Amino acid sequence: MASESLTTQASAVLTVQQPVAAPLTKAAIFLVVTINAGEENRVPVLSLCADLSALLRSVGFRSLEGSLSCIMGIGSDAWDRLFGSPRPAELHSFREIKSGPRHAVSTPGDLIFHIRAKHMDLCFELAAQIMDRLKGAVTTADEVQGFRYFDERDLLGFVDGTENPTGTLATDAVFIGDEDPTFAGGSYVIVQKYLHNLDAWNKIPVEAQENIIGRKKLSDIELDDSVKPTFAHNALNTIEENGREIKILRDNMPFGRPGHGEFGTYFIGYSRSPRTIEQMLDNMFIGRPPGNYDRILDFSTAITGNLFFTPTVTFLDNVSPDQPAPSASSGSQTVAAASAHVETSPAIGPSKDGSLGIGSLKGERPHE
Ligand code: HEM
Repeated sequence: MASESLTTQASAVLTVQQPVAAPLTKAAIFLVVTINAGEENRVPVLSLCADLSALLRSVGFRSLEGSLSCIMGIGSDAWDRLFGSPRPAELHSFREIKSGPRHAVSTPGDLIFHIRAKHMDLCFELAAQIMDRLKGAVTTADEVQGFRYFDERDLLGFVDGTENPTGTLATDAVFIGDEDPTFAGGSYVIVQKYLHNLDAWNKIPVEAQENIIGRKKLSDIELDDSVKPTFAHNALNTIEENGREIKILRDNMPFGRPGHGEFGTYFIGYSRSPRTIEQMLDNMFIGRPPGNYDRILDFSTAITGNLFFTPTVTFLDNVSPDQPAPSASSGSQTVAAASAHVETSPAIGPSKDGSLGIGSLKGERPHE
């Protein structure tokens, strides 16, 4: 008995997921960078992966009530460069879509840092610390400071985020499970930065706006199916598979510079498979059926588009800056597996330091 329970304990590894399903916050920074060419630029990125938890603790602990969190995502090309094989089963570059005047562009981006907190100072400080660590190794592709606008509204004036799943529905929607056991507990994230033509939007009647979104503007009540157009945003973004609705988790944020006439929505969607969000994008840009497209796009232009994989905190904690480049390492990167819904799961192998992976505990963030 004693040896049995020891075996059980020995094969259990605590893995920690990135705080993808954390509650919405008042402030966020979306930082997308590309890794500069040259092997010497790989090392600082690997080193940051390993130290991100500690960096987050240092900044976050200075204002515990601020709920600072950071999710790091890695693009398809960057994954090959940093880690090689094995790779997340569905990781690929953002697929652009062109349909008439509508264009979901694909733009450069190797890493994303989705930084959230109750106050912008915390987000700002962490972004500054991350960039200090990556100085010279990366080039910033895009940096957006997002803010909450009144009662969770976007700059089109509608409440944004109402139908987000919560609790286990959210974790079920975002975390990879048995379908890719090596990367269980990870997630995929798609981002797009949209600019709105608010002058044109504000010229159309509120009722027309409500038909486009599929909800009442003031009350946020969903339009009844009997009156909701098939092109409504929430109709086109309802995805069903085998009679079951497949949800994603969004944490969109308004951003802008009124002095420059810039008004936008930063779309960020997490999902356990990128296929769900890609299907939504097809429905929006091409239409369901084709031609029955999302009229939000008559007033909004996507100027960026990226897809990233967000590994577990445990995976990031165990990255070593000394690991050989993938071509030389024959894909020996150790991967810590996490279960999709619980934070304790059987180990698929020892961590690279030969420990039981208990070091992953350092990724726990008590202040979230
Ligand atoms: C211009 C950019 C966008 C704006 C301003 C916007 C705004 C909104 C608003 C106001 C709602 C209704 C409230 C809610 O349930 O959150 C909504 C719902 C939703 N949006 Fe978007 N959205 C944008 C882009 C996208 C994109 C690119 C996707 C996916 C590819 C998407 C997916 C969804 C989904 C899944 C829902 C919930 C549908 C439901 O279950 O009722 N949105 N969005």
